[in-house]
Amino acid sequence: MSPVPMHLLPDTASIGSDGRLSIGGCDLLDLAAEFGTPLFVYDEAHLRARCREAVEAFGPGVNYATKAFLCKAMARLAVEEGMHLDVSTGGEYAVARAAGVPAEKLVLHGNNKSVDELRLALSEGVGRIVVDSFDELDRIEALCAEGVPADTPELYVRVTPGVEAHTHEFIRTVQDDSKFGFGVASGDAERVIERMGEHPELELVGIHCHIGSQVFEAQFFELAVEVIAPFFHRFDLPELSIGGGLGVAYVEGEEAPTIAQWGAAIDKACAEAGIRSWVTAEPGRSIAASAAVTLYTVGTIKDLPGIRTYVSVDGGMSDNPRPVLYGSGYEAFLPRAADAPRERVVTVVGKHCESGDKLVVDARVPADLAVGDVLCTPVTGAYGHSMGSNYNRVPRPAVVFVRDGEARLVVRRETFDDLLATDVD
Ligand code: LLP
Repeated sequence: MSPVPMHLLPDTASIGSDGRLSIGGCDLLDLAAEFGTPLFVYDEAHLRARCREAVEAFGPGVNYATKAFLCKAMARLAVEEGMHLDVSTGGEYAVARAAGVPAEKLVLHGNNKSVDELRLALSEGVGRIVVDSFDELDRIEALCAEGVPADTPELYVRVTPGVEAHTHEFIRTVQDDSKFGFGVASGDAERVIERMGEHPELELVGIHCHIGSQVFEAQFFELAVEVIAPFFHRFDLPELSIGGGLGVAYVEGEEAPTIAQWGAAIDKACAEAGIRSWVTAEPGRSIAASAAVTLYTVGTIKDLPGIRTYVSVDGGMSDNPRPVLYGSGYEAFLPRAADAPRERVVTVVGKHCESGDKLVVDARVPADLAVGDVLCTPVTGAYGHSMGSNYNRVPRPAVVFVRDGEARLVVRRETFDDLLATDVD
């Protein structure tokens, strides 16, 4: 029944005396009219504040995980605030470089980096490569033998510590069943570090681990630190990256630790484990998720008495596949009446040709919701735009950054011509 909780909205969200919601000093209905819908609206102050919080917690050079949300403006913003960037494919690497980010501020991830991706990154002097497999190490050694890197590449190894965290639960396994990295339990982590020690042309600077995503309990990270601490004692490595994974609240009733609290828990765990290396991280979701909202226009309302009411909007699983993929929950509200009680229960669906194309199941919305209304879903800044698709040949939405009453288009809406750009005849 209650209005959308303010803590799910971007930092600068404010409700006017007429009930209309503004973000970054921009009225959401005006943005919808100017840029069309669906539209991603990012609060620039919120993004910058989270980047600064991460830098404060882990130090300059902490990485923003670009998989959460990436465009040139986002890459620049994170770097302006003192972050480096985690890129996990040649594509993310290329966008970061196109944004003008120096290669040394990039850390290259991925469990199947191609020779071409490695060659490009090494030849440009990428900051770090996170070695994920023995085959990849073969490729890096071969590229070094060819003389590809200008300087000795600085490498991490990704270890899988057998701690897997999911939201409010963790799994601690004796054997690792993961496509990523080198298992601690199997002895592979130790073997790869020893092998790297035999190659003076490579510099092992640290260990990386990532225990999962959307993790609400900071103590799960402490377990990972415990498992990998012996490597630091034995090999005396200067850096540890704890990966990303800090959760965010998506719906009413959820609460997550802040980046500062997460950093403090990791610091404490490292101190207790006697790790004196530089501890860094790769937050993605906790930087970007609640910085943005998505605006849609309601196109049809189909009331099935005794069953449910379907509210169809002009986007769907192509701009937010998370509900379909993971069953993720979201809130919905009307920016024209952001403080209105939400007493009507509806299912917000997209425009794709799939019955499963649901955005918000059992969404609570104001009773007077009508065709033509702009409907808003908050906390859509991470893994929405970045996991979007052109399914049903739906053009991807535009993205605007708002700040101090100004809206800046950072990704324009795709056109039908864009959809045909790669067709050869
Ligand atoms: N570092 C590594 C090595 C990762 O694999 C990930 C996420 C991150 C950092 C960033 O994690 P974050 O702070 O964003 O949780 N598509 C899923 C999330 C997949 C995360 C994959 N790896 C979702 O929408 O929930």
